[in-house]
Amino acid sequence: EKGGWDSFMDKEIHEDPEAVRNTLLGRVDLDGRLNLDELHIDENAFKSIDKIIVVACGTASYAGIVAKYAIEHWVRIPVEVELASEFRYRDPILTPRTLVVAISQSGETMDTLMALRHAREQGSKVLAICNTQGSSIPRESDAVLYTHAGPEIAVASTKAFLAQITAAYLLGLYLAQTKGTMYRDEIGNTLEALSQMPEKIQWVLDTQPQTIHDTARRMVDAHSFLFLGRHVGYPIALEGALKLKEIAYTFTEGFAAGELKHGPIALVDEGEPVVVIVPPARGRNILHAKVMSAIEEVQARGAFTIAVAEEGDEDVAQKADVVFWRPECPTLMSPLVDVVPLQLFAMDMAMLKHYDVDKPRNLAKSVTVE
Ligand code: M6R
Repeated sequence: EKGGWDSFMDKEIHEDPEAVRNTLLGRVDLDGRLNLDELHIDENAFKSIDKIIVVACGTASYAGIVAKYAIEHWVRIPVEVELASEFRYRDPILTPRTLVVAISQSGETMDTLMALRHAREQGSKVLAICNTQGSSIPRESDAVLYTHAGPEIAVASTKAFLAQITAAYLLGLYLAQTKGTMYRDEIGNTLEALSQMPEKIQWVLDTQPQTIHDTARRMVDAHSFLFLGRHVGYPIALEGALKLKEIAYTFTEGFAAGELKHGPIALVDEGEPVVVIVPPARGRNILHAKVMSAIEEVQARGAFTIAVAEEGDEDVAQKADVVFWRPECPTLMSPLVDVVPLQLFAMDMAMLKHYDVDKPRNLAKSVTVE
């Protein structure tokens, strides 16, 4: 079943490129137009949507944050991301023009299911982004966009996360196409960039494992880790932190790099490992400069810095103690590559500690209780 891999997690991380590729498959016409007729939501209903609320738990909720940054930019409608467990207990504002997007790998997460039931009772439409055909969440939704990551067995979610981002991006671009908020060739170029991601992910899988493994050996006794990122690097910091706590039982905290000075920097002491997701130096270079100064600030307090950064970033090469490299790509595509070394790093750490990588203590693959 594991097909020669050490664990399901190992196998599934190596299926990251396929998860993205298969989720795109058949959804883009030859002339570059998105075709999501499978959603069975009529165009006028789509046109009238004025707000999106993503409900999800854990890793799926971080895919939701990535999607929020992209969809607000492309479609110019507000996107809220809400932990499904909080949603129905706070009287959220739901109207027939609100689209609730429930993201779930298993399709059986009770918190998410209860949130979507609440949304439908209040008259909103629910669209599921789900990896499991025929499971409860898509069955109870108005529409479904399946992620085609294939079965995910390891408790720690990996390839499904990439597929969720891909599907949410397709939804965002489809909305932009329907509402006319992006030019046709802009949508085409974005889809083209998305379709190049599997190769870039493969590059990370082919070239980075040795550095990642060496770093894990060096860090295996660390008591805690901080993860920081900005913009779409922020949810990736949260996801990297969750992976490490979940399977290597290491205390981690992920946060937005800008928050460092509002509290977390007090945690930084001699030798504290800090993982930093660095945005591309091109284009959004204001953010790049800000993240570089976060690296300097934690280093000045003795931190050991591990950066995830774009190939050729000289600044990072000089400053960070270790770098996991990613190939060049547009900022909004970077989550799909940046998360990969963090998945491998968490797995290596857990293996070095002789933990059961696929079945971490106290956790279940799908949480079917509220
Ligand atoms: O099946 P779901 O996507 O609804 O699961 C949601 C979370 O329980 C899940 O992502 C959890 O956080 C993972 N174990 C993270 O690796």
